[in-house]
Amino acid sequence: MSAITRVLTGITTSGTPHLGNYVGAVRPAVAASRLPGAESFYFLADYHALIKTTDPLRVQRSTLEIAATWLACGLDPEQVWFYRQSDIPEIPELTWLLTCVTAKGLLNRAHAYKAAVDRNTQDGNDPDAGINTGLYMYPVLMAADILMFKAHSVPVGRDQVQHIEMARDIAARFNHAYGGEYFVLPEAAIEQHVATLPGLDGRKMSKSYDNTIALFAPATELKKQIAGIVTDSRAPGEAKNPDDSTVFTLYQAFASSEETAAMRAAFAEGIGWGDAKQKLFERIDAELAPARERYQQLIGQPAQIEAILQAGAHKARALATPFIGELRAAMGLRSLTAVAGTGADDGKRKAAKPSFKQYRENDGQFYFKLVAADGRALLQSTAHDSPRSAGERIAQLRDEAGEGLHQVEALTVKLADAVIGELSESATLDEVVAALAAMAE
Ligand code: TRP
Repeated sequence: MSAITRVLTGITTSGTPHLGNYVGAVRPAVAASRLPGAESFYFLADYHALIKTTDPLRVQRSTLEIAATWLACGLDPEQVWFYRQSDIPEIPELTWLLTCVTAKGLLNRAHAYKAAVDRNTQDGNDPDAGINTGLYMYPVLMAADILMFKAHSVPVGRDQVQHIEMARDIAARFNHAYGGEYFVLPEAAIEQHVATLPGLDGRKMSKSYDNTIALFAPATELKKQIAGIVTDSRAPGEAKNPDDSTVFTLYQAFASSEETAAMRAAFAEGIGWGDAKQKLFERIDAELAPARERYQQLIGQPAQIEAILQAGAHKARALATPFIGELRAAMGLRSLTAVAGTGADDGKRKAAKPSFKQYRENDGQFYFKLVAADGRALLQSTAHDSPRSAGERIAQLRDEAGEGLHQVEALTVKLADAVIGELSESATLDEVVAALAAMAE
C-alpha cells in the first residue's frame, strides 16, 4: 500500500447543516484534508437524499447549503476532490456491480432498515410497509461511494460505522469473487470524544428528532437555541453532573482540554445553567463567526459553487472512468473481441498497467495524462496545439522509458531541456519513472 492515506466522506443533501454535522463530519474532515500524506474526497450525497425526500427544492437547496458549508469551513477544492455524487455516473453503475455480489442477508441486518421494519411490526403493519428499496439498498450505494475511490479511511458518526463494515464486506467479496485486489478495504474513523453530539433534548442531534442547532444561524438565533437546551432543575450553587449534561457535552466539543477541565470544575462548584449556557454560546460563536460570514457570501453566489462542483466532478471522473472500465472488464462486461481466458484464469490475470490518456480541453488544446495502474493521474502534460504533437511526446516518453526526466521548481517536469508537464499533487517523479518503466516491460 502507498504511504498516502485516502480519506473520503459524504453528507446527505436533505437538510440544513447543524452543529452535529459540523463536529461529527465537516470539521474533522477539513482538518484531515490538511495533513501531509492525505488525499481527501468530500462529496454531496444527493443520490442518498432521494431516499429520504421527494422534494426537489429541498434537495437542491440543501446541496447549495452543504457545499457552501464545507467551503466556508476551509475546504480547499484545489487540494481535495470535492464533488456532487450525482455528477459521477460511474457511482450508480458501480452500485449495480456491487449489488450482484452483496448478500441479501447483509442488507436485512442494516440498522436503518431493521429499525423501519421493527416500527412497522410494532404498529401491526406489514413489515415492509412504506419502506422504499432505496433505503434497503442504501449501504450498497454508500459502498460504491467509498470503494470507487479506494478510500482507506472514512470519517463518519458512530451511526454509520455499520455501513463502513458492510462496504468492507462487499469489497472483500468482490475481490474474492473476481480474484484480484480491486478494492481497498476501508475503515471507519471516529473522532474519539465527540463523534455524536447531543441535541437540544439530550438525544442524538438529528434532523429526525427536530432537536438540532443550525450551524450558521445568526448569532442571536444561536443564542436563543442554546437557551432552549433541556437541563435538570438544579439551582445556581448546586453541584451539577457534567457527564449527563448536554450543555457540557456540547461545550467539550468546541473547547480545548484546559477549557473543558475548567468547565468541569465550574459544574462541581455549581455554576448556574444560565451562565453555563452563556459560556457555551461564546465558545461556539468564537469558532463559527468567521465561517458564518464566508457562508453568507457563498450562498449568494450559487454559480460560483456550481463551477467548483463541475471542476470537482471532472477531477473525480478522471479516476472513476478508468476504474469502472477495469471492473467491467473483470466481470466480463467487455468487448467480444477481448481475449478471454477461462473463468478461473481471468481472476489471475495480470494487474492493469499504467497508461496514457489523451484528451482535449475546453481551451481547444490537446493534453495527455500519465495514469498509474491504480487509476491515479501521475503527470499532466503541457498544452499541445495538435493531437499529433501530443502523440509524439507520448511516443518519446515511452521510448525513453523514464530516462532523462527531471523535476524542476515545484511540480514541473522536464525531459532533457523541454518542459513536458506537471506532476500531480500526490505523485512523485519516481512514480512517473516507475510507471514508464512498467509500460516498457
Ligand atoms: N450515509 C452518510 C450519512 O448519512 C452519508 C454518506 C453517503 C457517506 N455516502 C457516504 C458517508 C460515503 C461516508 C462515505 O451520514
